[in-house]
Order: sequence, then structure tokens, then C-alpha cells
Amino acid sequence: MTAEPIVQVSRLTRDFKLGRAAGRHAVLRAVDDVNFDIGRGETLGLVGESGSGKSTIGRMMIGLLAPSQGDIRLFGKSITGGQGRANLAAVRRRLQFVFQDPYSSLNPRMRVGDAVAEPMDIAGRTPPRERQERIAQLFEMVGLPPAFATRFPHEFSGGQRQRIVIARALALNPDFVVCDEAVASLDVSMQAQIVNLLMDLQDRLGLSYLFIAHDLAIVKAISHRVAVLYAGEVVEIGDKRRLYAAPRHPYTQALLQAVPRPVVGRVRTPPIKGELLSVLNRPQGCSLSPRCPHAAERCRAEKPRLREVEPGWQVACHFHESIRPAQPGSSSS
Ligand SMILES: Nc1ncnc2c1ncn2[C@@H]1O[C@H](COP(=O)(O)OP(=O)(O)OP(=O)(O)O)[C@@H](O)[C@H]1O
Ligand SMILES: [Mg+2]
Repeated sequence: MTAEPIVQVSRLTRDFKLGRAAGRHAVLRAVDDVNFDIGRGETLGLVGESGSGKSTIGRMMIGLLAPSQGDIRLFGKSITGGQGRANLAAVRRRLQFVFQDPYSSLNPRMRVGDAVAEPMDIAGRTPPRERQERIAQLFEMVGLPPAFATRFPHEFSGGQRQRIVIARALALNPDFVVCDEAVASLDVSMQAQIVNLLMDLQDRLGLSYLFIAHDLAIVKAISHRVAVLYAGEVVEIGDKRRLYAAPRHPYTQALLQAVPRPVVGRVRTPPIKGELLSVLNRPQGCSLSPRCPHAAERCRAEKPRLREVEPGWQVACHFHESIRPAQPGSSSS
């Protein structure tokens, strides 16, 4: 990885004020003191169950939502704080996003070629011939025949539509792409194809990704490093190989155990039961403590901080050394 990360997130926090019905001063802390960085050409996988704050982080990264506290630096410029808006405008072309549902992100009445060219059209006029060539080039990059450009979104499969959305995201040559559940609506074989496409594009174009998903299986192939989010907090972050082979945090262990494996006639029960805690009623100690099979007195009293357990690997658990890693299954990648 290059020395200078192109994405630097520090102490990122986002509160949502809830309506009166939820109580007078009710504030939901959806993202709590999150830190990470992403290098050029690197993918950080961001994983956590529904409501853990993944999309809130993703939306802040592309300037759709302002942080309550903390800082986001993209390409060395802070998009928060005093110069935030100006800096965001300056780097906007270099960042893009791909969301879950390719159908709702494409205008059903717009030919897909025009949809792909839309970012260029918004950025300024491109001579027609050059525009045509760029559309064809973008279609080729995502593995679609350029002749498809005159069709409409409904004429494509879900996987093809996601390719179109990716082509549009690439139109202005971005450096950093936030993919929020970009393959979640697709079936497993299609997921693998889109993940492979994103990896090829990363190799060819040097892209960096924040790749958001709710389970560890989906992010495994694409990620270089993985951050595991629980109730808005990063509980473990580290290099993919080590994290999958021997996860240190009980929550990461549980997520890995929940990954379905093709064992005929046997269903594994994830060791962590219950619902994501209400982010409104955060316990004093470790947020996971009400659900954690290893929770002890200390966990309920004292919040564990993220600590480095090996260079490039951080875990927020008082007992990460003494708890036995659950068998994460095959450690092959
Ligand atoms: N605009 C908002 N107003 C109030 N609460 C919000 C808002 N956006 C998100 N939240 C809350 O913040 C928390 C995190 O939501 P977020 O959408 O980031 O979760 P997520 O990890 O992306 O979940 P999913 O996997 O379901 O997409 C949730 O409790 C959600 O209800
Ligand atoms: Mg989400």
C-alpha cells in the first residue's frame, strides 16, 4: 500500500435526533467514533448486521450526510469543517457510489447509454462523437456490448443493470468508489461475477473501494482489509487473511459462524443470539455485552477500546486473548 492513504476517517460520529414520540432528548448514535483509512488500489470491507450504521458511514463518505463529529479526509482534503463544502466540490469527480438496487438507481425512461453518460453531461458538454466513444468504452469495461446502449433498463437482468450502474460510476474516472450492498439483490453466481468485475476494474484503474455488506462471505474475495461494525462501533479491523483465519472479536466470530456453508443436512446456529441492541439504550460497558457468550462483569462495567493486537490488526474486546476463536470453517481464501 502507498504511504499516503487516499481516505482518512477519524473519530467519525453521527447522531440522529429522534422525534418527540421517542422521548424529549432522544438521540440515536448511529455511528460512534469510527476510524479507518483506505489506500490507493485498496478495498476496505465494512460488515455488520442491519442497522449497525454501514450506510450512514457510506453516505457521510460521499458527502450526502454531514458527520456530527469527526473528520473525513479524501485525497488529503477534509470534506468536513470550514473548508468542507469547497473541498468536497473539488474532489467530487474523484468519488462515486454504487448502491444496492440497480433498478431504482436507473431512470426507466432513459436509454442506458444516456444514463451512463449522465455524469459527463452534468459535468459539461462533450462533443457527440467523443461522448459516443466514451459510452462504448464504458460498456466494454463492464462487459456489455456497446450496442446495448440504446436499450432501456427493463430490457436487462439485475446483474446487467448493476454493470450499467458501475459503468455510470466510472464515467468521470473516479479514484474512490463506495459500494453499499452493491451485490445484495443479486443471486450468488451473479454476486460473484459482479465482485470479479469490480476487482478487475480495480486492477485496471487503481480504484479504491469501501465495500459495504451485511455478511463476511460477500466481502471476502474483494477486501484487502475488513472492518466489523457493531452498533455503530468498529469492533475489529484488520488484514483479511488473518481476520478470517482467526477472528479475535466474539462478534466477528459469530458473523463467521453465521456464514452458511454447504454442509448437507446440518445447520449451524450462530452463537450470538438476539437482536442488535437498541442504539438508544447502549449499555455502559461493551455494546455487545448483553448478547456476548463471553461477557463478564468487566464487560458490563467498562467499555473496551480498540487496541492493536498485532500490527495492522485492532480489536475492541477485554478478553480477546483468552476467548477461544470459534472454528471459523475453512481458512482458505
Ligand atoms: N435519517 C435518519 N434518521 C433517523 N435515524 C436514522 C436515519 N438514517 C439511519 N438511521 C438509523 O441509524 C441506524 C443505522 O442505520 P444504517 O442505515 O446506517 O444501517 P445499515 O448498517 O446500513 O443497515 P442495513 O444493513 O439495513 O442497510 C439505524 O438505527 C437507523 O434506523
Ligand atoms: Mg444500509
